[in-house]
Amino acid sequence: MARRRKAPATRHIVSINDLSDNDIENVFKIAEAYLNEFPDPNFPYRIGRSTNIASDFILASLFYEPSTRTRLSFESAMLRLGGRVITSSDPNTSSAAKGETLADTVRVIGNYADVIVIRHNRDGAARLAAEYSTVPIINGGDGSHEHPTQTLCDIFTLKKRHNDLKGLNVAISGDLKGSRTIHSFVYALARFNANILLMPAKGMELPAHVDNRLRSEFRCLPVPRAKYETENASIDALYVTPDEPHQLSLMPNVDIAADVKINKIRKIHAMYVTRFQKERWADKAEDYPKINAKFLKGRRYAETSVLHPLPRVDELDAALDNDERAMYFEQAAYGVPIRMALLSLLLNLDKKDSLERFDGGFERPKYAIYDQANNIGIRCRNKNCIVHDEAEGQYARNKFFVVATARNDGSYLRCFYCETDIERFVVAHKKNKWYTKDTAALLSQNEHQLRELIIFADETAARDGGFHHFKRNTVNTRPGLRKALKSHS
Ligand code: NCD
Repeated sequence: MARRRKAPATRHIVSINDLSDNDIENVFKIAEAYLNEFPDPNFPYRIGRSTNIASDFILASLFYEPSTRTRLSFESAMLRLGGRVITSSDPNTSSAAKGETLADTVRVIGNYADVIVIRHNRDGAARLAAEYSTVPIINGGDGSHEHPTQTLCDIFTLKKRHNDLKGLNVAISGDLKGSRTIHSFVYALARFNANILLMPAKGMELPAHVDNRLRSEFRCLPVPRAKYETENASIDALYVTPDEPHQLSLMPNVDIAADVKINKIRKIHAMYVTRFQKERWADKAEDYPKINAKFLKGRRYAETSVLHPLPRVDELDAALDNDERAMYFEQAAYGVPIRMALLSLLLNLDKKDSLERFDGGFERPKYAIYDQANNIGIRCRNKNCIVHDEAEGQYARNKFFVVATARNDGSYLRCFYCETDIERFVVAHKKNKWYTKDTAALLSQNEHQLRELIIFADETAARDGGFHHFKRNTVNTRPGLRKALKSHS
């Protein structure tokens, strides 16, 4: 009988934050090398020839949502490398139509292909797929969560035009809530020290959990509205990043840091335009911002490079296509060398350069994980999260990172799959049958101790579960509470 071997650790790219700064630089270095090695003599941004270094490998593209650029540029990249491609791009003609789940599909396709690119309409779908896959999963866009390889193209384009991201003023316009490209993009901008200027359509501001992370994990300083010029009323929020990692903690007053930087926000270096993500909203958009020559008039936009992940609808005027500032077709062309580079690294095509060798760069904070079966306690509050899909959700768990609040006086839960945060919840002790609303109770717990707890959405759910309120004032007796938690773990 064939014995099951324990699967070796596999590197998945679900979020841009699954790549360190060094990894990203490495992708860019290899992409640049491919552009030089396999050039199109007429277009410097286009790969014009092929190689056969990936001839042993097969890429599977597994697309549950429409795509042109992401799927075709991944497939082109694999073919340019000499590899082969198998595709499932229409859920109506695959076993998904018979009700097969992602967890099963990736376990099967992992035997047919060496790397899987997946696109799905649910937030967190790629992370769920990664939990079950023995071959690398690359997220080609999951709901409104993230689209990390688009960000690699975006950042590469900015670097080609402006050399360095540090201190660049990057404005982002449109559907900041629904656009997954923006969520990966802002994390990368913060990590590479660019300043971020948000110009959302009405009601489409950056989601709270992305804002949370920009501030707490990526050292961004939000600048109070009154501090920046009102010359451009469309700027709704502005984040600056300190030049040095330790600078923030040395700043006695965040406003001072902001004042120093704000003087430099005279010029917009890049404008990132996005379409209204109509598939993620119930209503039509009203007053959606349109970027055209009139908008880009004036000195501050004189040298602005204009980016768009595409497809565009009518938010970006076609009349700009011949404008020197338009970068979006070049940006789309970079999809091939960038994805060739990423595949080379994931498939270990160049023995000198492999993602597994990574050390240094951006380090993910190590958060403890609260992990319970999917029928116990709190659920992710994002209704589009994969955990709420009736079929797929069977394979997901109620799994959250425990993240300390900035002031360390409480904690919040970040969904393991879609990364949405929950700020209020109650913590109950399985054996002792009490609960507390003090979210700081989670902070001192290791993963083993966390297994003794059940987290509920609110007091009613805890009481319905047969738990009673912890009697003492938990704020004043927190050490006592922790002791109580510990003694029962
Ligand atoms: C984007 C996507 O799918 O998120 N497209 C792409 O991959 N370039 C942007 C969009 O659809 O608006």
